[in-house]
Amino acid sequence: MKRLLGLFAVAAVIFGLDSTSINLEKFPDDFIFGTASSAYQTEGAWNADGKGENIWDHFVHKFPEKIADGRNGDITCDSYHKYKKDVVLLKKLGVNFYRFSLSWTRILPTGFPHRINQAGIDYYNNLINELLANGIEPIVTIYHWDLPLELQKLGGITNSLFADWFEDFSRVVFENFGDRVKFWLTINEPRLICVFGHSTGVFAPGIQSGGIGEYLCNYNVIKAHARSYHLYHKSFRPTQKGRIGLVIDCQWYEPATNSTEDIEAAERKLQFDCGFYGHPVFSKKGDYPQVVKDFVAERSEIEGFPSTRLVLFTQQEIEYIRGTSDFVALNHYTTYYAANDKTITPFTEHPSSAKDSRVHIWQDEDWPSGIFPEFRTVPWGFRKLLKWLKDNYDDPDIYVTENGFSDDNKNLHDRGRVNYTTLYLSALLDAIYKDGVKVKGYAAWSFLDYFEWASGYTIGFGLHQVNFTDPNRPRLPKDSVKTYTSIIKNRKLTPID
Ligand code: BGC
Repeated sequence: MKRLLGLFAVAAVIFGLDSTSINLEKFPDDFIFGTASSAYQTEGAWNADGKGENIWDHFVHKFPEKIADGRNGDITCDSYHKYKKDVVLLKKLGVNFYRFSLSWTRILPTGFPHRINQAGIDYYNNLINELLANGIEPIVTIYHWDLPLELQKLGGITNSLFADWFEDFSRVVFENFGDRVKFWLTINEPRLICVFGHSTGVFAPGIQSGGIGEYLCNYNVIKAHARSYHLYHKSFRPTQKGRIGLVIDCQWYEPATNSTEDIEAAERKLQFDCGFYGHPVFSKKGDYPQVVKDFVAERSEIEGFPSTRLVLFTQQEIEYIRGTSDFVALNHYTTYYAANDKTITPFTEHPSSAKDSRVHIWQDEDWPSGIFPEFRTVPWGFRKLLKWLKDNYDDPDIYVTENGFSDDNKNLHDRGRVNYTTLYLSALLDAIYKDGVKVKGYAAWSFLDYFEWASGYTIGFGLHQVNFTDPNRPRLPKDSVKTYTSIIKNRKLTPID
């Protein structure tokens, strides 16, 4: 028996089943390391120097009860005023790049390009220049959820003109920053924009329209992304010579059993979450995944809709959208088990993508988690997801644009984050060296503790802690800073004890 267990342990290490077996190979020479943030979560200065109001400003002020601690991002880390100090910290970390987003209303206060706010342009110019002067590449997300309020009054993302508005904003930013920014991300996580913003309504703009507004949002947001890509590709790439792509968020869904139903359910859940946005852009075929089209159509019929609730792409749109990303930008945090949900939820007036997909998901409570209970540490799921992206999207270059661990903002000894980062990077190395996945970069989410959307300041993802009660917002490195700095410097992981 003892011998058998010993053999199992050896096999576990060989096959990477043991979560503490760390891949000690070097990161490839062209692999880049960075960290990431977003404008609303870190900048503060919500109404400074001509900035217009956006949907998050409005949401947190009007509905403080929707935020766990009733607080807001008015000041948050105050990076708007402290960007130089931030760049000093980034430099100390040794990162190759810093991913940040642009506040649309800091640049265009009404959302439209008739009036450009020079102070906003200046702020981003200063930040970009400071990064470059310190040898750090800016990776810029054009849109990370802070839509101009004036556009929201007109229906926001669900207005059929949204793609025009986003293209106009994109043009302004390419014109102003594209001489120095060579790596663009159009839109961060369309899924969360549509699910949390337009289905459950827990995020701004707080619309509760599952399976209807949510799908209109899916359709418009993907079209808007494609417009920005084509604009860059046609009018700016020839001279600016940068790259541009879409950020999707995908978690891994592991079949709960070996049954065909559960294997199909896990794949279906992946297609509903990841493929809904990824497939139209990254797959050879384009369009929504067939299984999504079939399941939404079936459920729509049960509910008495005359046709599918999906807003379908025309053939022309499918071709226009397909291939509009130079790489896959992936945000990933955790893994779930998935099983086929046999019960067809009875008719209610409230459709949703969850009801459409008919998959039951849960997590193993023994998987370690931080303060966000759902963000559990499951590195093997990350490796499987990377392989899935390779297989489904024609072996693309993949940049992990977000990956991180949550704590309670109070402790500098963030053991959970040190372990998480090491184990996930080890899984990433396995994906590169054992599965042949072309993973080219990694951004630790996040650079600083900040305003975490509906969770306010109750949760921190930062490598650095920020004291939000001190007007100077001092930043203090957590233990994970040491770990990450050493990984970047040695281009290699250190075993964890
Ligand atoms: C978002 C971030 C957020 C993080 C952690 C991602 O979905 O892009 O803005 O802070 O998850 O919840």
